[in-house]
Amino acid sequence: MSTTETSSAPVHVSLHEGVQVVRIDNPPVNAIGSAVRQGLLAAMAQADADANVKAVLIVGAGRAFIAGADIREFGQAPVPPSLPEVCQRIEACGKPVVAAIHGAALGGGLEIALSAHYRLALPGAQLGLPEVLLGLLPGSGGTQRTPRLMGVKAATGLMLSGKPLGAQAALAAGLVDQLSQGSDPETEGLAYVQDLLARQMPVRPTSATLGRLADKATAQAELDALKAETAKTSRGLFSPMKIIECVQAALDMPFAQGIQFERAQFLACIDSPQRAGLIHAFFAEREVVKVPEARAAAPRPLSALAVVGGGTMGAGITVAALNAGFPVTMIERDAESLARGRSHVEKVYDGLIAKGRMTPEAKAATMARYTGSTRYDDVAPADLVIEAVFENLEVKQAVFRELDRVCKPGAVLATNTSYLDIDAIAAVTQRPQDVIGLHFFSPANIMKLLEIVVPSKVSADAVATAFELAKRLGKMPVRAGVCDGFIGNRILAVYKEVAEHMVEDGASPYEIDEAVRGFGYPMGPFQVTDLAGGDIGWATRKRRAATRDPQARYVEVADRICERGWFGQKTGRGFYLYPQGARTGQPDPEVLAIVDAERARKGIAPRRFTAEDIMRRYMAAMVNEAAKVVEEGIALRPLDVDVTFLCGYGFPRHRGGPMKWADMQGLDKVLADIRAFAQEDPRFWKPAPLLERLVAQGQDFDSLNKAAPAGR
Ligand code: 3HC
Ligand code: NAI
Repeated sequence: MSTTETSSAPVHVSLHEGVQVVRIDNPPVNAIGSAVRQGLLAAMAQADADANVKAVLIVGAGRAFIAGADIREFGQAPVPPSLPEVCQRIEACGKPVVAAIHGAALGGGLEIALSAHYRLALPGAQLGLPEVLLGLLPGSGGTQRTPRLMGVKAATGLMLSGKPLGAQAALAAGLVDQLSQGSDPETEGLAYVQDLLARQMPVRPTSATLGRLADKATAQAELDALKAETAKTSRGLFSPMKIIECVQAALDMPFAQGIQFERAQFLACIDSPQRAGLIHAFFAEREVVKVPEARAAAPRPLSALAVVGGGTMGAGITVAALNAGFPVTMIERDAESLARGRSHVEKVYDGLIAKGRMTPEAKAATMARYTGSTRYDDVAPADLVIEAVFENLEVKQAVFRELDRVCKPGAVLATNTSYLDIDAIAAVTQRPQDVIGLHFFSPANIMKLLEIVVPSKVSADAVATAFELAKRLGKMPVRAGVCDGFIGNRILAVYKEVAEHMVEDGASPYEIDEAVRGFGYPMGPFQVTDLAGGDIGWATRKRRAATRDPQARYVEVADRICERGWFGQKTGRGFYLYPQGARTGQPDPEVLAIVDAERARKGIAPRRFTAEDIMRRYMAAMVNEAAKVVEEGIALRPLDVDVTFLCGYGFPRHRGGPMKWADMQGLDKVLADIRAFAQEDPRFWKPAPLLERLVAQGQDFDSLNKAAPAGR
């Protein structure tokens, strides 16, 4: 029974038969902002002062325990008390403190639970320290308490991966003391506290013991191994090695000193540009789904899907849809192509079975939702159809005429075209309001990005349905307008071009790839070409040859390579050599000779480019075209460009995306580079008017993210 209730929103305090319940109620996920910290501090003082309080129970209201520190406060002036102070105060309470965890207990949320003396986890609890994903480390005792509770290996793994543990795994790891089966954290927590009181369980601060650090030799050996591995795998990231240093401090220092050390490292991470980039990425990925159409209209029903075309993309899309639980009908031109389409799908599952990541029974259950057909009439029950046939306007228009004939009213008709005009595809149907672009990336069952391309006549609820589909498929949707290449491929074409210019002017493809990898990309642009197949770009270049500006600079190195049949990995050579089917390429002297010959033919005397020279041009080209894409409304906001490149093009996440990168450089610097490069080639380097305007106004791209887009 509740006897007293004091509420200092968002922390509510009430007394239940000697147990002070501290309920954090800060929707949607109980993030710990300054008001929560103040409330918790006051609640602990009250518990110590009130003789009627025998124990304290901390619970979260709503769907989570606590999802961590309020990320929005990072980078702003700190408001006291700090979270480490709050955690210390909880642990120092003179009465047993218990945390009853349901839903997410992440970052600072888990650190609060670890400061309690006992922990109970409900089904569905997720306990983790994801700070590393934001360029941070657990900064409220997490690096000192988790190794004591879980041992070095498990604790460091938790912090370096950022992946949460479920309730059962947390119990096994020593992170919680007990599991309960009920669903209400307060009821379950109160029962647990009463049980602890009945057993006269004492106050039990984790900081007071070494716990699993007691065997120092083993702990040090584990940490040494992790340190060596992290040095190799952290790829220029700042916070992973800082986490290792903090765990070392837990081994070497008394708790209070370890906490101070942790605090200093945490603040160094807060100051790092990587933190700014990663937190921008976190919020951008949540803002990107907020588009005018999804606000204005509800999605249409979505239960059955169809895919036309069973090639690379059609099969990948089918796998993505089957994995999400949809029944899928695949349409192909003839029985032979259909058999090939089905085998492409099965190959993905067979690969998983071979790796032990799927059982044959699970494959059979999944394939039971797959239907293949060569008759368009079989797509009639589908709520949404995705066309993935050859990249040819006439072929696609013929498919859409068929779809128009057979699909039920209200079905959404989507095309996976990479470059074609979707308005021209919609125009051959009687229902352009239902026609949309869904541009998946290869491999479609793996890649997160989905460009949702919005042609002029499509209705808002069809767009909302596409966003709903992305959610159900676990994809990251970005709204794009119709233009050649939409957001991603349009910008890619421009920075690819500048890479080719640099090759002709003196940088080798290998130097460019190395500089791009040094920036944080997993691969450079010429490696990507070799992986995707050089013939794809070659076909596009030939298609565009007739309409290309004859005055514009055109580098023919890639054409010379393709003319020899060197299409990359699949042919054993491209820009690189792949002897005996190797997956990593070796530099090819013959390619360098081709480059030399092209330079000589054009009378270009090669000059030297440092990695920095290369990246300045590469990024300036990317940002300049991206600014045009934003200005034309092809991307709603700069953040939409950032998410496109983070999720579809390997842009290093810790840099936040090209627009965030430009903001962090200073737009004036980027513009100055573009103007300097324009001295050599004014046709290619035309500064985007939006960039010029923002610089003149002293604004950055982020100011446009904050300005409400149309319809908000
Ligand atoms: N701070 C501020 N806002 C947060 C937040 C946080 N820690 N966590 C989530 N939110 C916001 C989101 O931005 C979103 O806002 P919106 O509705 O306005 O877009 C809203 O809460 C709901 O979030 P999601 O859309 O992500 O909801 P999901 O249900 O998909 O996921 C979640 C919930 C698993 C809790 C996920 O939001 C998440 O992973 N949050 C971040 C957790 C995290 O990184 N915590 C560590 C913070 S750093 C820290 O604690 C430092 C400490 O060591 C000192
Ligand atoms: P693909 O050549 O591997 O597959 C095309 C399939 O369509 C073939 O199996 C063919 O038999 C089938 N097909 C052709 N005409 C058909 C018809 N009238 N009815 C039914 N099936 C028909 O091509 P891929 O790579 O899968 O590309 C498909 C589409 O996806 C193209 O528009 C392409 O631009 C786009 N795309 C491709 C990406 C890639 O990386 N390959 C990435 C994103 C989009």
